[in-house]
Amino acid sequence: MWYKEIVFYEIYLPSFQDSSGNGIGDLKGIINKLDYLSDLGIGGIWITPFYKSPKVDGGYDVEDYYKIDEEYGCMDDFDKLINEAHKRGIKVIVDLVLNHTSDKHKWFVESRKSLANPYRDYYIWNKKIPNNWESFFTGTSWEYDNQTDEYYYHAFSKEQVCLNWSNPKVKKEMFKVISFWLNKKIDGIRFDVINFLKVNMGLFKYDNTQNENKEQEHIYDMNQDGILNTIKEIVSFTKKWDNIFLLGEIGSEDLSTLNKYIGDDLLDAVLNFNIGSINKIETYKLAEILKETNKAIDYPTLFFTSHDTSRYISRLCDNNHDLAKVLAGLMLFAKGIPFIYQGDEIGMTDYISKSLYDIKDIRALTKYDVLYKLNKNEELSLKLVNNTNRDKSRTPMQWDRDKKNYGFSVGTPWIGNEGNSIDVEHQISDKSSMFSFYKSLIKLRNSNLVMQYGDYVSIINHQDVITIIREHNGEQLLCIMNLGNTQNKSINKEGVLLFSSLKIGSNNVEPYEFSIYHLQ
Ligand code: GLC
Repeated sequence: MWYKEIVFYEIYLPSFQDSSGNGIGDLKGIINKLDYLSDLGIGGIWITPFYKSPKVDGGYDVEDYYKIDEEYGCMDDFDKLINEAHKRGIKVIVDLVLNHTSDKHKWFVESRKSLANPYRDYYIWNKKIPNNWESFFTGTSWEYDNQTDEYYYHAFSKEQVCLNWSNPKVKKEMFKVISFWLNKKIDGIRFDVINFLKVNMGLFKYDNTQNENKEQEHIYDMNQDGILNTIKEIVSFTKKWDNIFLLGEIGSEDLSTLNKYIGDDLLDAVLNFNIGSINKIETYKLAEILKETNKAIDYPTLFFTSHDTSRYISRLCDNNHDLAKVLAGLMLFAKGIPFIYQGDEIGMTDYISKSLYDIKDIRALTKYDVLYKLNKNEELSLKLVNNTNRDKSRTPMQWDRDKKNYGFSVGTPWIGNEGNSIDVEHQISDKSSMFSFYKSLIKLRNSNLVMQYGDYVSIINHQDVITIIREHNGEQLLCIMNLGNTQNKSINKEGVLLFSSLKIGSNNVEPYEFSIYHLQ
């Protein structure tokens, strides 16, 4: 399958490339950078939502599924983007938000008007707050609406209203949306929070108060009975189009939960948060995670950063480029579909919001509000919010390092972006840069069947070094990666050197070495 043969790149649209000068990334901006992506060796892009939206949550709050948001461009730009990407052999997958709409969507505008409105049952309403469920963005998941004196359900922000998937009309509307975009010759879909479509509202469904992170467990609002059937219906509908790659976002780190959603009549792959959300590099654990993932999932996805996490170079590597290269190497060598997040390939680091007014992430803002009400302390609230603030990875791509006041929209600039003053031209031309490392390894993966299809023969951890052997059709590759800053003398290097992060090969494994050998 084609999706096993390529490296994907995630584009967080609002901050990728702004072609119009309004401070917001747009579709033309992506077209402008297709040559850059092609030079990097990228075979597929995942673009975050571009539909008409108030953008309370970066576009994950859709107002009209059939329109391109004006700030992002127009339908012609979209068609051109597909065309230009395909000309360069780049596949395009779009992000579909089926679980909720914006509160500005016409269905919701209608729905809230009266109890008898034909769109009333498109959403989930209740006379009283029926349970203690919390939103994933903190606070209650029920919002009072004075027009009909009832409460509506939202698993995310109150501006993202959950659709009622038990209503067949909702399903029908969404099948229309899916066919509209598949007819536009896209190559795949990333289904946003797809395991949330079913909720178990029944009486007295009180969620557990707290898990170990002092958060609600969310027992009834995701992974509920019947969800697999709903997904199967969606999948079988999309099968009318050929070769479509279906990727699901299942908000879970649990491998058996993730694996339930993959299969011939289910999704092709899910986002592996068991890898994507790790917080600390412990070599032994990382090797174990790879082994466990391999036991549970035939072909996982591999990523360390997304628009919902901090950047791995900061979170896992303390901004150490040598270690960041080794982890990038791991992501590109391990079995699975790699997803590079925009900017990681040039070494962009986390941005830390300096005040409340500097925060754009709706989840962080909501959390700040709740925390501030409790502790009345701005500094403390900011500090706590910054632990998970998604703005960290959402600052604009540093195409122009001198332009510091880039922003998401006019009037709301990111206040400075000092840590990320990166010279892209230099990244591209310097043979020892982060970009060059990614590029040469992707080139190797693109032409190497063992790196695409190979099974694991072994994954072994020795001190800070992990060695992996993969095999395909009798051919074997050995990958040696040192995640530590000390030399390791006890590992046997064998075979013909195909790739190394070091200029001069030595018999020992050098600090932060990443090498691949072809075994004879
Ligand atoms: C997904 C998206 C995230 C968004 C949420 C609600 O998790 O990746 O950015 O906030 O869904 O749509």
